[in-house]
Amino acid sequence: MPSFYQIWGDADVFRPNRFLDSSGKVTKPEEFIPFSTGRRVCLGESLAKMELFLFMTTLMQRFEFKAVDPDNLPTLKGVFGITHAPTKYDVRAVPRC
Ligand code: HEM
Repeated sequence: MPSFYQIWGDADVFRPNRFLDSSGKVTKPEEFIPFSTGRRVCLGESLAKMELFLFMTTLMQRFEFKAVDPDNLPTLKGVFGITHAPTKYDVRAVPRC
């Protein structure tokens, strides 16, 4: 069985293009299973995906997100708990006209 690092490599680096193939198409590695799989698969997966899409697109359409201090960006280090969450940080949400 391949190790975590063999599958994900630099998993702690923000590199969304890891989900694009060589021709730029979205690709989903079979190891990517945020909603689990099999008998215990999340019953709310399609609802959650719809909600995430609506929330994210609405926020992006209505606000521009800016760093509070551009010379001192928040850390990309996460905090491990039940999930791997971002470290607490402040952000400026500027309404788009
Ligand atoms: C981003 C959002 C969500 C993620 C990442 C997520 C992830 C998961 C995961 C990994 C499991 C399996 C847990 C286990 O194996 O014990 C699970 C189970 C479950 N989820 Fe979600 N979930 C999300 C949203 C939702 C929503 C919105 C609902 C309902 C409206 C929901 C309902 C359930 C239920 C009922 C189970 C238990 C399934 C079973 O064991 O029979 N989830 N979820």
